[in-house]
Amino acid sequence: MMEFVHVAVAVLGLLSLGHSAPVTSCENLIQPREIHGNQLVGKWTQIAVSLAIPGFNMLTKTVEKVVETAWMNITAANEANTFDILYVQKTRDMCFTLKANMTLVNNSMVHNYQYPTVLLNTGCPDCLVMYSNNTIGRTTFKALHLLSRRVKVSAAELEEFTKQTECLNLESPAILDSEKGFCPDPALAPGTKTTDLSLSNIMPDDLNLSEKLFTE
Ligand SMILES: *[C@@H]1O[C@H](CO)[C@@H](O)[C@H](O)[C@H]1NC(C)=O
Ligand SMILES: *[C@@H]1O[C@H](CO)[C@@H](O)[C@H](O)[C@H]1NC(C)=O
Ligand SMILES: *[C@@H]1O[C@H](CO)[C@@H](O)[C@H](O)[C@H]1NC(C)=O
Ligand SMILES: *[C@@H]1O[C@H](CO)[C@@H](O)[C@H](O)[C@H]1NC(C)=O
Ligand SMILES: *[C@@H]1O[C@H](CO)[C@@H](O)[C@H](O)[C@H]1NC(C)=O
Repeated sequence: MMEFVHVAVAVLGLLSLGHSAPVTSCENLIQPREIHGNQLVGKWTQIAVSLAIPGFNMLTKTVEKVVETAWMNITAANEANTFDILYVQKTRDMCFTLKANMTLVNNSMVHNYQYPTVLLNTGCPDCLVMYSNNTIGRTTFKALHLLSRRVKVSAAELEEFTKQTECLNLESPAILDSEKGFCPDPALAPGTKTTDLSLSNIMPDDLNLSEKLFTE
């Protein structure tokens, strides 16, 4: 009898390992979760993203065509609850960086360039699901990002993220392909040609994003 119980427990254990990221209800998946600053620090790979701007339907598909890979390094700044972010993106075989400051206010991450972002629930143990829903100038901008400590996540974890985009009425996500390789941190690889976008004013108050995206 004891033997049987052991086997049963072992099998159940295996089964639960195979289902580490259960796809749960929308109600649960769009729940903001508490942000602990120290859990943000370090290197994150961008796994997938869905963007939405009304009137610009193919934005996520466009991102998928041009952005190859991206990662970020988050470090704690001197002041409490503030962080420096280095975002490194590989696009059409070129390297771009964007530096930003972020402050935690009211369980939301506030960037110096962009819009407040919250973390949503996720079944993935080493992932962040970042959601921002904001109005910049005259444009409503929604974005859902899946970041992980790993360069690749499981099919079940991606499926859960896709479900989250559906729950929020966003386009199906662009999945970035880690096989395409990453641009390095320019501070650690000074020989690499990198364009720093930090000084360009990418999010002015009166921005009409659809105008900007079509004209550039
Ligand atoms: C981040 O904040 C520091 C101190 O406030 C400032 O010196 C630095 O220029 C900021 N960086 C960016 C990218 O805005
Ligand atoms: C934080 O949230 C509280 C309650 O929702 C609100 O009263 C306060 O204005 C918020 N503070 C900031 C800085 O947004
Ligand atoms: C996004 O923001 C708009 C306007 O602030 C609000 O009406 C809408 O409910 C928000 N959507 C979500 C999914 O939070
Ligand atoms: C992240 O930033 C910290 C502090 O600047 C640096 O020590 C570390 O090497 C960086 N990590 C990567 C992967 O670039
Ligand atoms: C943004 O620009 C586009 C293209 O010029 C225009 O059709 C649209 O009406 C503008 N949207 C707003 C909210 O001003």
